[in-house]
Amino acid sequence: MQPAFSHGFLSLLLIFSFPILSTAESSKDQLPSSTVEFPRTQVEKMIRQLNLFPELDVNIAEGEPAVSEPKLVEKRIQFPHLSDRGATVENLGHHAGYFRLPHTRSARMFYFFFESRNNRSTDPVVVWLTGGPGCSGSVALFYENGPFHLADNLSLIWNDFGWDKVSNLIYVDQPIGTGFSYTSYRGDIRKSTEAASVDFYDFLQAFFRRHPRYAKNDFYITGESYAGHYIPAFSVRIHKANRNKKPRYINIKGIAIGNGLTNPEIQYKSYADYALDMKLINQSYYNRLRRSFPLCQLQIKRCGNNGSLSCLMALAYCNRIYDGILGVAGDINYYDIRKKCEGPLCYDFSDVERYLNQEHVRTALGVGDIQFLSCSSSVYTAMIRDLMKNFAGGIPALLQAGVKLLVYAGEYDLICNWLGNSRWVAAMKWYGQKGFQKAPSTSFVVDGVMAGLKKSYGPLTFLKVYNAGHMVPMDQPKASLEMLTRWMQGQPL
Ligand SMILES: *[C@@H]1O[C@H](CO)[C@@H](O)[C@H](O)[C@H]1NC(C)=O
Ligand SMILES: *[C@@H]1O[C@H](CO)[C@@H](O)[C@H](O)[C@H]1NC(C)=O
Ligand SMILES: *[C@@H]1O[C@H](CO)[C@@H](O)[C@H](O)[C@H]1NC(C)=O
Ligand SMILES: *[C@@H]1O[C@H](CO)[C@@H](O)[C@H](O)[C@H]1NC(C)=O
Repeated sequence: MQPAFSHGFLSLLLIFSFPILSTAESSKDQLPSSTVEFPRTQVEKMIRQLNLFPELDVNIAEGEPAVSEPKLVEKRIQFPHLSDRGATVENLGHHAGYFRLPHTRSARMFYFFFESRNNRSTDPVVVWLTGGPGCSGSVALFYENGPFHLADNLSLIWNDFGWDKVSNLIYVDQPIGTGFSYTSYRGDIRKSTEAASVDFYDFLQAFFRRHPRYAKNDFYITGESYAGHYIPAFSVRIHKANRNKKPRYINIKGIAIGNGLTNPEIQYKSYADYALDMKLINQSYYNRLRRSFPLCQLQIKRCGNNGSLSCLMALAYCNRIYDGILGVAGDINYYDIRKKCEGPLCYDFSDVERYLNQEHVRTALGVGDIQFLSCSSSVYTAMIRDLMKNFAGGIPALLQAGVKLLVYAGEYDLICNWLGNSRWVAAMKWYGQKGFQKAPSTSFVVDGVMAGLKKSYGPLTFLKVYNAGHMVPMDQPKASLEMLTRWMQGQPL
């Protein structure tokens, strides 16, 4: 989402972004030097570019009594200002809840659960994860694929292409500290995707304990941007626990990553190629950027997947390439290079904060005094060592076990561009790698219109989505719902 230009943050949803760097002064022979200020000011700037102004930097509820018993508390809800067409709380099947996370001192994870508008007993269960790291699932709920969107007057309008049209849809605010998820103990703030996966897995167990009728339905994890890290990590955790038969089998059938950051080594190298292809930079500037590739790649390799200091060095160094591109490309919206950022803003997602922080809305949701926090700068900085880690390594075992993978990307996103995504997918070593590489690219057609280009072999599908930026469900709602539906049903896209 949005990033802004100069520095992307994660946008919204996902994104991740990099912190960073000063923009471009471009003296003739040098790349812009990156001032590595991981801190807060940089991240906060990125959040503001989305026109988000969270009052807190992390959701810490001071003085909240520690509760030792893991417990999930859920209620049926009806959102205020929903044009209801006669719907009642009972027949809507909308829920909001808190789960007291057992592997934390006092954290509570917030989630929304929307039963399918189609057939709740047979439709799959789909979880959506927003990126950042540190942005709330509600940003996607209201601007991308949720049951409704926000109108300018803060009323809710049904979304004809909400993913709850074909699934029982869950949005979680994670890692702890973002959205309505909170803790009273700072030590509960997660510093790695691995640690976040413990909480996510605990939540899933509690969710299916609470909703046993959904436990046998097909289960999918989806998400965007920085969720390109979460999704493989969380799925590997589920898969391992399933093999150990404890505590409860999670019926995972597939994972879908939209404009994700999964394999930084390959994806960083692709920035300059994508920028050249899209004419954001010229050949001579490209050649100059290329000189930074070898060292950037070496640093990312050193970072590997173990979160050492080299991950920070890789981030600082490699972002020079990214910042160099932004420095010459002007004030483009790096989530959608067709667009410019207007003033300091690339997108305006401010209504989600205005809506969810109204007292009567919070009362209806049962969140008490907890404030809604759109994107947490502290959660982002806590996870900073994870940004450059490669999370593709766990995927081949999932494919081997028959878990499907869909990687899709809107063609005009720079920050998690389709080219880098298609390359890491093609480079991944798994039993079907050769078959995938040889598979033809064919059109993804929706209503007779070419909506993208797809390539598929066995459980693996890659889809480049036309006329979309980073947030595919926002830009191409109908095509994205069609994509999800066909993919989950096992039809060719
Ligand atoms: C949902 O699907 C099941 C199994 O096909 C069917 O028995 C049930 O009637 C369907 N429910 C609705 C509301 O269509
Ligand atoms: C709010 O805006 C929506 C969409 O423009 C409109 O349908 C609705 O009537 C408006 N509600 C109020 C209370 O003005
Ligand atoms: C972890 O990082 C250190 C420091 O760069 C490196 O020497 C080591 O090989 C890495 N370990 C693994 C398992 O990747
Ligand atoms: C290429 O782009 C760089 C950076 O914007 C600029 O300084 C340079 O003049 C351009 N070179 C040509 C040949 O257009």
